[in-house]
Amino acid sequence: MAMVNPYYPIPIKIKKIIPETPTITTFILDGKPMQFEAGQFMELTVPGIGEAPFTPSSSPYADDLEFTIMKVGRVTSSLFSCKEGDTVGVRGPFGKPYPLDKFRGKEIYIVGGGVGFAPLRSLFLALLHNIKDYKKLYIRYGARTPEDIVYRRLLPEWENTKGVDIVLTVDVGNNSWKGNVGVVTVILDDIPVDVAKSPAIVCGPPIMLKFVTQRLIEAGFNHDSIYLSMESNMSCGIGKCNHCRIGEYYVCKDGPVLTWDEIKHIEEPFV
Ligand SMILES: Cc1cc2nc3c(=O)[nH]c(=O)nc-3n(C[C@H](O)[C@H](O)[C@H](O)COP(=O)(O)OP(=O)(O)OC[C@H]3O[C@@H](n4cnc5c(N)ncnc54)[C@H](O)[C@@H]3O)c2cc1C
Ligand code: FES
Repeated sequence: MAMVNPYYPIPIKIKKIIPETPTITTFILDGKPMQFEAGQFMELTVPGIGEAPFTPSSSPYADDLEFTIMKVGRVTSSLFSCKEGDTVGVRGPFGKPYPLDKFRGKEIYIVGGGVGFAPLRSLFLALLHNIKDYKKLYIRYGARTPEDIVYRRLLPEWENTKGVDIVLTVDVGNNSWKGNVGVVTVILDDIPVDVAKSPAIVCGPPIMLKFVTQRLIEAGFNHDSIYLSMESNMSCGIGKCNHCRIGEYYVCKDGPVLTWDEIKHIEEPFV
C-alpha cells in the first residue's frame, strides 16, 4: 500500500449505510485506503462542510473501512444526509493502537456505553480474529433504551461465539425488554475475571468513563491495566495544534487511549 500524506483526505465512496439506532448509523466505505490498528482514529471529511475524528468500527483485517457514528452536530449531520455512492474524505490513521501484545493469554474485560461500542467493535473483531491468543473476551455494554443498543443485528452471532461473554443493560426498559435495567455499572457488580491480571478497556461518554473507572479501581484492576478512550477537540491529529491537550498529553498523538495510571493525576480528566 502506498505511503499516504496524513494532511490530505483521500476521497472514498460510501458503499453502504446501515442505521443502527434512531441516532447512530454505520457507514461502510468502499475499500480501505490505509491500514490501521484497533484503537487508532481517523479524520473523516464531508466535502464543503468540514472534518471530525472517528475511530473505525470495522476489523483492521477487513477489506472495507467502517465507521459507526452518532449524529450530534455539524459534520455528523452532514454525514447523515449523505447517500450510498456519495464521496467523503478520510485521513489518518492517528494515535496509538491498543497494546494487543500485552493482552495475549489474558481475559479481556471490555466495557462500553452508547456509541462507545463503535471503537470497541474494532478492538473486539481484532481480538476475535486471533481468539486462540486470548483466554476469554467479556463485553459489558449499556445503552439508554433497547432501541439505542448498537449492533443488535450482530449481537446474536457474537453471543454464540465460544470464548465470548456478553451482558447488556439499558437505562430505561420497555415492555419487550427482558434484560438488565440500570446504568452500565449495575452489570459490573459481579466481575468474573482475574482482576489482578486482566486488562479492562472502556469507551463511552465522559460521565460513564468516570463511574466505570471508579468501579474498576474498587474491583481491584491495576491502574495501568485500565484503558480509557479519551475524547477531546481535535484539529491537526498529529500533535501540532494543541487543540486536544489533556494535562501533558496530546490525545491525538499520545492517545486516544490512555491508561488510568497515566491520567489519574489530572484534575478533571473526563470532561
Ligand atoms: C479519537 C476520537 C474518536 C471518536 N470516535 C467516534 C466514533 O467512532 N463515533 C462517533 O459517533 N463519535 C466519535 N467521536 C466523537 C466525534 O468526533 C464527535 O461526535 C464529532 O466531532 C462531532 O462533530 P460535529 O461537527 O457533528 O459536532 P459539533 O458541531 O462539533 O458539535 C455540536 C454539539 O454536539 C456536542 N457534541 C460533540 N461531540 C459530542 C459527542 N460525542 N456526544 C454528545 N455531544 C457531542 C458539542 O458539545 C456541541 O454542542 C470520536 C472522537 C474522538 C476524539
Ligand atoms: S489535534 Fe492538533 S495537537 Fe492534537
